[in-house]
Amino acid sequence: MRYHGHDTHSAIIVMKITAYETRKDEKQVFMQLAEEHNLEITYLEEALTASTVHLAAGTEGVTILGGKVDEEILRNLKELNISYIATRTVGYNNIDLDSAKALGIHVSNASYGPEGVADYTIMLILMSLRKYKQAMFRGNVNDYSLNGLQGREMKDLTIGILGTGRIGARVIESLSGFGCKIIAYDTFQNHAVKHIAKYVTLEELYEQADVISLHIPLFESTLQIINKESLSQMKDGVVLINCSRGELMNIPALIDAIEHEKIGALALDVFENEAGIYHFDRRTEIIKNREMAYLRQFPNVIMTQHMAFYTDAAVQSMVNCGVTNLVSFITTGTADNQII
Ligand code: COI
Repeated sequence: MRYHGHDTHSAIIVMKITAYETRKDEKQVFMQLAEEHNLEITYLEEALTASTVHLAAGTEGVTILGGKVDEEILRNLKELNISYIATRTVGYNNIDLDSAKALGIHVSNASYGPEGVADYTIMLILMSLRKYKQAMFRGNVNDYSLNGLQGREMKDLTIGILGTGRIGARVIESLSGFGCKIIAYDTFQNHAVKHIAKYVTLEELYEQADVISLHIPLFESTLQIINKESLSQMKDGVVLINCSRGELMNIPALIDAIEHEKIGALALDVFENEAGIYHFDRRTEIIKNREMAYLRQFPNVIMTQHMAFYTDAAVQSMVNCGVTNLVSFITTGTADNQII
C-alpha cells in the first residue's frame, strides 16, 4: 500500500495490483474499479507463468484468469512480497492450493452467475441433437440437403445432469421447459432441483441418460470421470456435453467411443491441455495437441474455445470479483470469495 499526496490531510492510499491475461473487453470495468478504489493497475496480456511473474514486482496482489500456478510461481510471488491471488474464474483447479497455503499466499475466486454457462450448455445440447454443425457446414457451400441431418426431440429424451451446484441447477431449470425427463447425480443433493429432476445413482445416470452434461468441478476424485469404463455403461448413441473442465474426460477413451459409434454426439467447450491454445489466435502456428485436431474433425463433434462463460454480465462480475477481492485482501487480510 502506498500513500500519495503532499501532506497527511490530502494523502490517499494507493494500492498497486497486477492484472494478468487482461482482454480489451475487460478494460473499462478495470478502469472504473481502479478509480473507485484508488488503484494503480499493471495490465498484462500474458498469463501468469514462471517467465512473467517478475512483471508483478512492486505490486501487492495479482488477478489471473487461467494458466497453471504451480509451486515455483508461488515461490516467485512470495519473493516479490505478493501474498494475494484473485482468480477471475470460478474454477481454481489450476492453482496449487497446498503450496499457496504453505507459503501464506491467500487465494480467492469469482462468483459470476451461472446463467451464461447454463444457456450455452442448452445451446450445445440442441446443436448436438439437431446436427447443426453439419447443417451449418452444408449451408456454407449451398448444400441444402437433409440427408443424415434427422434429429431427436427433447420431449422423448432423458437428460442426465452430473453435478447439481449452481450451474447444473440452472441447466436443470432451463431444461424443465423442454418436456424431457431429467435425472441428476451429485454427492450432495440440491433441494432446489428436486421438484424438477430425479436424483439417481451415478450408474443409473450412465445407464438411463440419452444426453449427459457435466457440471462438476475438477478434483482428484473427478479427474477423467468419463473414461473407458464409464462410457461402457452408457447408452449407445449417448450425447455428451462438457462445459466444465477438459480433464474430466479421458480423451483416448472418447476418441475410441466416437470411432466405434458408441457416442452419438460430443460437444466440448473445454479440452485437456487447452491452456495456451484456447483464447489465443494460433492460426499461423503449429499447435501441438494431436487429439484436439483429430476429435475436431468428426462430423458429430463440436468444439469451442472455452467460451461458455463469456457474456457481458459474467465479464463484469469476473473483473469485479478479481479487483474487489484483492482490495479486500490488501486492506483487511480476507475476502468474500476467499478459498484459502
Ligand atoms: C471459470 O470461471 O471457471 C471458467 O471456466 C472461465 C474461464 C475463463 C477459465
